[in-house]
Amino acid sequence: MSITKICCIGAGYVGGPTMAVIAQKCPHIQVTVVDLNEERIAAWNDENVDNIPIYEPGLSDIVAEARGRNLFFSTNVEKAIDEAQIIFISVNTPTKTYGKGKGMAADLKYIELCARQIARIAKDNKIVVEKSTLPVRTAEAIKSILDNTGNGVQFQILSNPEFLAEGTAVTDLLNPDRILIGGDTSVEGQKAIQSLVDVYANWVPADKILTTNVWSSELSKLTANAFLAQRISSVNAMSELCEKTGADVNEVARAIGMDSRIGPKFLKASVGFGGSCFQKDILNLVYIAKSYGLNEVADYWEQVIIMNDHQKRRFSNKMVQTLYNTVADKKIAFLGWAFKKDTNDTRESAAIYIADDLINEQAQIAVYDPKVSSKKVLADLDYLETRTSEKNSANVTSFSSPYEACASAHAIAVLTEWDEFIAYDWQKIYDGMQKPAFVFDGRNILNRVALESIGFIYQGIGS
Ligand code: UDX
Ligand code: ADP
Repeated sequence: MSITKICCIGAGYVGGPTMAVIAQKCPHIQVTVVDLNEERIAAWNDENVDNIPIYEPGLSDIVAEARGRNLFFSTNVEKAIDEAQIIFISVNTPTKTYGKGKGMAADLKYIELCARQIARIAKDNKIVVEKSTLPVRTAEAIKSILDNTGNGVQFQILSNPEFLAEGTAVTDLLNPDRILIGGDTSVEGQKAIQSLVDVYANWVPADKILTTNVWSSELSKLTANAFLAQRISSVNAMSELCEKTGADVNEVARAIGMDSRIGPKFLKASVGFGGSCFQKDILNLVYIAKSYGLNEVADYWEQVIIMNDHQKRRFSNKMVQTLYNTVADKKIAFLGWAFKKDTNDTRESAAIYIADDLINEQAQIAVYDPKVSSKKVLADLDYLETRTSEKNSANVTSFSSPYEACASAHAIAVLTEWDEFIAYDWQKIYDGMQKPAFVFDGRNILNRVALESIGFIYQGIGS
């Protein structure tokens, strides 16, 4: 089937950038991204492309090129479903906060709602593509809903997990390591796979497009994220040992990364990984393993999360200890709130948990992040439900200048690796702070020697 109309349900961090790149690379395909969230769609349609709701380097240029030509953002979900030959589902799948599997299993209610909506509206055969990270065998659930509630039309369900990392989404989409498409082994299933392969083949070399069965594809996504997160927890575990022994974790990472069997990526010790995927996907994996009675497998992967939680807690504990065992009423400046650089996404960011711990110790937190609004900072803390929002607002203030955030602070915590932090006038920051002036570099990005020569007391991770 030659594809001319695609729709994507969910205009978030995955759906938005992915569809923008498909539209740019396939001008002959009409791509419509729909979302229930009117504010979000309005922002995607904002005349000024700098106001699109997601910050990703290079994304606004692509949207400017394709929007109105063959890329459309709309709240009319029904019309888009009705017209499309391929429907991507890119809605959010948060960890369940209630009932069975609470805190571990993925909440599939948004996916199920989408499936029911597609079943109700579709009047001709459709290919439905799982794009969100989903537990293994979700495709089966979607298929069952579609086949049993639909209007007698045929649905093919494909799994096409997204491997883009935020902050580098556009380059990852333009030059993917691989595209993975899982589908049914039947003739119809293979035809559906081919239709999607043909879309990607507009810009991705054929040898990078892998096709598998549905379950392999679904499990590969969870496995990839589990392996990546496991590397970070492994190096973070070593960072604690380095601090005790006098080794430097950056040197250890460099030394082991040069072993071609290990490789240099994802070995950067940090205050802990964040983001919407790693924790959620591992919890999911743990839940699936447990549900099959594979307790050793579940425990093995759960340890990656336990280590990450420990690393965050260890960082805040160390701050309090170093600041003479009290941070009550002290001003602590946070450089960075996003979970990594070059994104405005804050989901599961380590900064949220460090702030939570320090507010419990009655610190006053001053936040500067180049892309995160003060509203978002407070919403993230309120979401934890540790205390009232009045109390959060009383203890946390956001600043639009890093120098103001750091003025008269007792300590600075670097929580995101934004490049601009390195280029600051650190002498000026030092002059404005309380003495002794401390820097806790949760990302190991600043120059220890330079800061110590100014007079800072510097603590990095793992050295
Ligand atoms: C991840 C996967 O990389 C991507 O393939 C998948 O599609 C989604 O999940 P993302 O969460 O966007 O992407 O960013 P990633 O670059 O993986 O970083 C995740 C977290 O790990 C960030 O908080 C980052 O700061 C941290 N990290 C990463 C480290 O602490 N050390 C490292 O060496 C690498
Ligand atoms: P991700 O990082 O997976 O892209 P986001 O939370 O950024 O997650 O985006 C998911 C989007 O999906 C949100 O904008 C949300 O409003 C949207 N969404 C959730 N359920 C539906 C639905 N049934 N129909 C349309 N949009 C939906």
